[in-house]
Amino acid sequence: MKNSLLLLISFLLLASFKPQDKGSMGAKINSLLTKMTLQEKIGQMNQLNEWNNSAEMEQTIRSGSVGSFLNIVDAKKSNELQRIAVEETRLGIPLIFARDVIHGFKTIFPIPLGQAATWNPQLAENGARVAAMEASAAGIKWTFAPMIDITRDPRWGRIAESCGEDTYLTSVFGAAMVKGFQGDNLSAPTSIAACAKHFAGYGATESGKDYNTTWIPEVQLRDVYLPSFKAASEAGVASFMCSFNDINGIPSSANVHLNKDILRKEWGYNGVLVSDWGSIQQMISHGVCTDLKNAAKMGVEAGVDVDMMSFAYTNHLESLVKSGEVSIKTVNAIVRNILRLKMRLGLFENPYVKEQNPMPYYTQESLQKAKQAAIEGAILLKNDNNLLPLTTATKKLAIIGPLSDSQADQLGTWCFDAEPEHSVTPLKAIQQLVGNEVSIIAEKGLTYSRDKNQQGIEKAVDAAKSADVVLVFVGEEAIISGEARCRADINLPGAQSELIAALKATGKPLVMVVMAGRPLTIGTELNNADAVLYAFHGGTMAGPALADLIFGKAVPSGKLPVTIPRMVGQIPIYYAHKMTGRPAQNIDLIDSIPVGATQTSIGFTSYYLDAGDSPLFHFGYGLSYSSFSYSDVSLSSNKLQDGKTITVSCNITNTGKYDAEEVAQLYIRDLVASLARPVRELKDFRKIHLKAGETKTVSFMLNNEQLAFYNANLVKRTEPGDFQVWISTDSQSGKPATFRKI
Ligand code: NOJ
Repeated sequence: MKNSLLLLISFLLLASFKPQDKGSMGAKINSLLTKMTLQEKIGQMNQLNEWNNSAEMEQTIRSGSVGSFLNIVDAKKSNELQRIAVEETRLGIPLIFARDVIHGFKTIFPIPLGQAATWNPQLAENGARVAAMEASAAGIKWTFAPMIDITRDPRWGRIAESCGEDTYLTSVFGAAMVKGFQGDNLSAPTSIAACAKHFAGYGATESGKDYNTTWIPEVQLRDVYLPSFKAASEAGVASFMCSFNDINGIPSSANVHLNKDILRKEWGYNGVLVSDWGSIQQMISHGVCTDLKNAAKMGVEAGVDVDMMSFAYTNHLESLVKSGEVSIKTVNAIVRNILRLKMRLGLFENPYVKEQNPMPYYTQESLQKAKQAAIEGAILLKNDNNLLPLTTATKKLAIIGPLSDSQADQLGTWCFDAEPEHSVTPLKAIQQLVGNEVSIIAEKGLTYSRDKNQQGIEKAVDAAKSADVVLVFVGEEAIISGEARCRADINLPGAQSELIAALKATGKPLVMVVMAGRPLTIGTELNNADAVLYAFHGGTMAGPALADLIFGKAVPSGKLPVTIPRMVGQIPIYYAHKMTGRPAQNIDLIDSIPVGATQTSIGFTSYYLDAGDSPLFHFGYGLSYSSFSYSDVSLSSNKLQDGKTITVSCNITNTGKYDAEEVAQLYIRDLVASLARPVRELKDFRKIHLKAGETKTVSFMLNNEQLAFYNANLVKRTEPGDFQVWISTDSQSGKPATFRKI
C-alpha cells in the first residue's frame, strides 16, 4: 500500500514535468527531480556571493541551500566547497562557480566596445576563449558575459561593456563571444557557460542614467533590442540574465512577456535565466510589489530561474508553494533548467577543477591575441598631412598625458582579476620599440584624467617645445566608466582640454590618443590635434598595440561601433535614425542668424541651431594610413523574389601606399514601408586585406529575411517595394543601387 502510494506520487510529480529532456540527460534530471525535496529545489535556485564565514558557507552547502556561487576565484577553495556539495549533500548535486569575466580574466582584451571597433568577430571570439581558458583554471564555470545591450547613449557608463549602437554588429559580436567562452563543447575543462545580458532593453535607459526606466514600443523592442539576444540564443548561449530596468513599467525580473512568451515560447530557449544582483528584491523599490514574498512570487512566475542575492526564493518560496500560490510545476520547470545547465557543463562527471601550477595566465599566445585586438580596435579619426605613422626620423618625442603610463586605467572597467603590473603602457612600449633611435621625454602634465591642477602643464609644454613630435594620451580613468558610472558631461574630464590647448600652442605636430570607456565629445581637442587615434581602453597590451600603430608597424583598421556626438545634447544620436518629415537642409547655425531675424526668415527642418544635424563622427567611420576606392555597387538582379537571394558586389581598391585592411559595410534602406524605416541599416560587413594597389571584389548575398521588420501588427515581414543598397566604407558615404522586392 505504502509502495503504491509512493509510486502514485512519483507518477503525479513526473507528469508535472515537461518531457523536454530526452535521453540519458532527461532520465537523470527526472530521477533527480523525483528525489529532491522542495527545500533542495529552492536551494538550486539560490545564488550566493562569497561571505567571510567559511563554516557558515560550508553548512549552507551541506544543507543543500545553495546551487551556485559568484565571486569565488580560487581553484583550491572552489574544489573544497565542491567536495562538500558532491560528497556531503544528500543528492550530491555539484555547485557552479560564476564570475563577471567580461573582457578577460588575467590577460585583458580591449573593453567590449573596443573589441566591436575591430569589426573582426574572430578577435572577440579569441578574447572570450582566452578569458575562458584563464578563468576556468581558477574554477570558474559561468561568466556573466557577453553584454549585448544595444545602446545609443554614451552618457551611460555601461556603453563600455557593450558592442555599441547597432543591432546587427552586436548580434555578430555577441555570438562570437558565446562561441569563445563556451568552445565547441560546454563540458570541456576550458569551456565556461556564457550569459546573454541584460534581458532586455537596459541600454535604452532614459537619460543615460544607470538603472533608469525605459519606455520601448514593442516594434522597437523587437527590431532593435531583441535580435542580439535571439542571435545569442541561436548561438547556444547557456544562460540569460534579467536586466535591472523596467520596460514600460514592468521590471525584467517580473516580465512574463519577455521571459516566457518571447524567450521560452517563441525562441524555444531552455538555458538558465538568472536574475541580476538583487533585481528580484529591487522590485519592491520599483514599486511593483509590496514585500520580498510578493517579489519572489513575481520572479518565479516570470520564469526567473536563479535568484542572485535577493534571498527571495530561500526565504519565501517554500511557503508560497505550500499555500498553493506558486505551483510545484513552476518550480520543477525552473529546477530542470538549472540541472540541465549543470549537466551540460559536465559537472556531475567532473565536478572539480585541476589545480595547476603555474596557472595558464599571460601566455605569449594570449598576449599576442590581446595585442591584435587592441591594434584593430583603435580608430584613426584624423591624420592631417599624414603625420602618422611616425618614423625614426623623429629624433625627439614628447610623451605626455595622464593615460600615457597608467597600467590600471588602460584595462578599463570590469577587471576584477587583472593585475595592472602586467599591463604594458604606451610609454613603456614606445620606449621599447624605438630603443635608442628616438629620444623620449616623458611628462604627464596631469596626474590623472580628472586632475584639474594645471601646475604640471608648464613642464609638459617645455617637454613639447624640445621635441619634434608630441604624443598626448588622454581620456578617462577606468573608474569613470562602467556600471553606475554615468556622466552628464562627456567632455574630456579634468584639465585635459587645457593641456591639449597648451601643447597645440607650442606649434609642434600633435598626436592625440584617446583611451576611454565611451565616445567623448572631443570636438575642441580634435581641432587642436593634427592626428587622433581613438583607442578606448585597450587592455593589457594597449601600449604595444598603440606603439605599433604610431610607428607604422601596424595600419589602423578600426571603425566606430558607435556614433561620436558633437555635443551631449544631441544624444541619442545614431546612424539608423528615421528620415522625419522634414529632414535637415539649409542648416542655419545660431551665429549666422541676423539679429532681429523674423520667424519665417530661416527654414523649418530637423536640426539643432548650435550643433547642426551631424555627429562629430558617424558609425562605421575610421581612416587608414592607406586609402580605398569603391566602385559602383552592382546587383545580380534588380528584383528580389520570395525565397531567393540577390548578390550585391563592388570592387574595392587599395589606392594608397600601405598594405592594409578595410571593412566593407553593407547597408540597406527600405524606401517606402507601412512604418517609417531607418535611413540606413547595417546588414553585413567584411574585413578584407588589400595590398597596396590591389583590387578585390566583395560580394554579399541579400535575402528576404534581412529586409524584414516588425509591422504595426507585430508581424515580421518584408514588404514589397523599392530598396536602396550600399557597400561603403562607413554609414554615410557611398552611392546606393536600387532593387525592388517583389
Ligand atoms: C550587476 C550587473 O548588472 C551584472 O552585469 C553583473 O553580472 C552582476 N552585477 C554580478 O556581478
